[in-house]
Amino acid sequence: MREQILELLPEITKIKEAELQDKVIACWAEAIAFRNWNNQELRSIPFTLLANNIQIHLIEHIRTCCKMAVACDKVLDESYGFRKTPVNRDYLIAGSLLADIGKLLEYDKTKDGKIFKSDYGKHIRHPFSGVGVAFKHGIPSEVMHVIAVHSKEGIEEKRSPEAIIFHHVDFIDFELVK
Ligand SMILES: [Fe+2]
Repeated sequence: MREQILELLPEITKIKEAELQDKVIACWAEAIAFRNWNNQELRSIPFTLLANNIQIHLIEHIRTCCKMAVACDKVLDESYGFRKTPVNRDYLIAGSLLADIGKLLEYDKTKDGKIFKSDYGKHIRHPFSGVGVAFKHGIPSEVMHVIAVHSKEGIEEKRSPEAIIFHHVDFIDFELVK
């Protein structure tokens, strides 16, 4: 399972702290097992069900947002150096890779592989289920915060620097394809 997850999301290896890497992998293993998603299904889950004819898949979206988040952080580093608002790069990467993990619980599949929003998902949107999975695996609260506030649920919240970066790159990707 570990190898399968690292192949799916090689960005996990960019997390410097080994323990956090392991926790992120454990979260993915649990979310995959929840509905027994196989590799092919995982790669075919659309990025969102909020728009029609989406050609971009969830795993691609997650990887792209993670890369965009790190790219933003690097530009800010290069531009402002010590004057930059501090960002924890490990938390930013872990948060980016876990923000949508709850979609593996929110969505379900028919026997012929069609993806739909489950009743479970109608009650518990993915930021909530994502935090639930993360909590179980000891993910730091700073990273759970990124998951919790990344979407519309976080509008009224004061987002951390990591959450601000992730929220914006996520919405760049979402608004360009919806
Ligand atoms: Fe999301």
